[in-house]
Amino acid sequence: MTLSETELEPNPLREGLDQERVPDASILVIFGASGDLTQRKLIPSLYSLAHDGLLPANQTIVGFARADYTDDSFRTAMREACDKHARRRPTEDAVWESFASKLFFLPGEFESADDYVRLREKLAELDSTRGTEGRRIYYMAAPPQFFPVITAQLRENEMVNDPELELPFTRAIIEKPFGRDLASARELNRIAVMTFREEQVFRIDHYLGKETVQNLLVLRFGNGIFEPFWNRQYIDHVQFTVAESIGVEGRGGYFEGSGIVRDIIQNHLLQLVCLVAMEPPVAFEATSVRDEKVKVLKALTHFPLAELDQVAVRGQYAEGSIAGNPVPGYLSEKKVDPASRVETFAAMKVFVENWRWAGVPFVLRTGKALAEARNEIVIHFRPVPHLPFERESPAANVLRLRLNPDRMGLGVNINGPGDPFDLERVELDTELTPQALPAYARLLLDILDGNAVLSIRG
Ligand code: BG6
Repeated sequence: MTLSETELEPNPLREGLDQERVPDASILVIFGASGDLTQRKLIPSLYSLAHDGLLPANQTIVGFARADYTDDSFRTAMREACDKHARRRPTEDAVWESFASKLFFLPGEFESADDYVRLREKLAELDSTRGTEGRRIYYMAAPPQFFPVITAQLRENEMVNDPELELPFTRAIIEKPFGRDLASARELNRIAVMTFREEQVFRIDHYLGKETVQNLLVLRFGNGIFEPFWNRQYIDHVQFTVAESIGVEGRGGYFEGSGIVRDIIQNHLLQLVCLVAMEPPVAFEATSVRDEKVKVLKALTHFPLAELDQVAVRGQYAEGSIAGNPVPGYLSEKKVDPASRVETFAAMKVFVENWRWAGVPFVLRTGKALAEARNEIVIHFRPVPHLPFERESPAANVLRLRLNPDRMGLGVNINGPGDPFDLERVELDTELTPQALPAYARLLLDILDGNAVLSIRG
């Protein structure tokens, strides 16, 4: 029997959720389904969606990797992954059973043409038993060096539908790193468009799935009071911080090839810069938002190489302790070259040279194994032009947006108790509604629905 695509799972745990969007059911194929990303993020996030009644009843998820799982053992392993990593733990057997029935596994090699033939057959069979009607989403969760062969095999085995034709949709989800420099990023895009059209490709940056980040847009474009001040006349500088108290934690091999600039600045922090600096988009839809972001990126100044030490610093954590617990130095982490010069800390000052922002520094800083974990964007306003009280200059106003936990604060000066006009600093601080869905779940839901507004364009 084919289930209706819009039918929702009856979910006994669903509580007052205001989101009613349910995408058309498709088959989500995860290439690299035996890896860390699948276990830590993808399956737990998909489970969260199922739990909240946001996955269509016949959504289907197929893991493909070099691993000897069967459908059953894959389900067992994914249950363990959800027990460990899902925000919603699968304690309710009814919900878990219904989610597990959506999971399948096909062992295969990324380079083996025969295995794609088997994959194609399996997908066709699932279409007929589950009513997914040929809709496909391919998640590239395999190491990036396999991207060219996977996309070539999909193309050669005619597993990708052209969106210009009236056929069921095919989409591709790509994980970072999107290359390691301009040339390799261009090469990746060139390979992607040999198989997919740009509109079929969804590049993931999980920071865009964070609610504070979306709140930033609503704050800027849903309130009349900020726009008049949101420019170089009133803003002195903007600081972006992603400070983590954990080190590389077993990801030394990956980190050696990346470093913090590629791991955090190129993607997450630049996306935040775009959202703070961009002009109001005409509509909150993919093309308008992406067009505005591109204008910001084009306006970023190149580093003056001769004065690099004035605008950028980098560092690497050494052995020490955080909150009383010993932390090894980066050079003694597993899979790290003992003579490595890869940076685990970076700070830089960039400028968005356009009419709105000329001369306003955007300070980006991020690091691993720092004293305190803190993610925030802080807008520093200019000081008052003249102080009518005979006092020291007051601190400048700041607007602080904090991620994890989500908070928003406005630092203002008031007349404190006691001495008249002795200015006192207070921060009007409010906790924002906690994020309903984990960042990955939010992004996956959008992609299942074909909405690219929170994905990145080539
Ligand atoms: C990932 C990086 O993209 O973001 C990690 O690869 C980093 O190194 C993580 O720890 C930080 O994400 P979050 O959501 O914990 O701020």
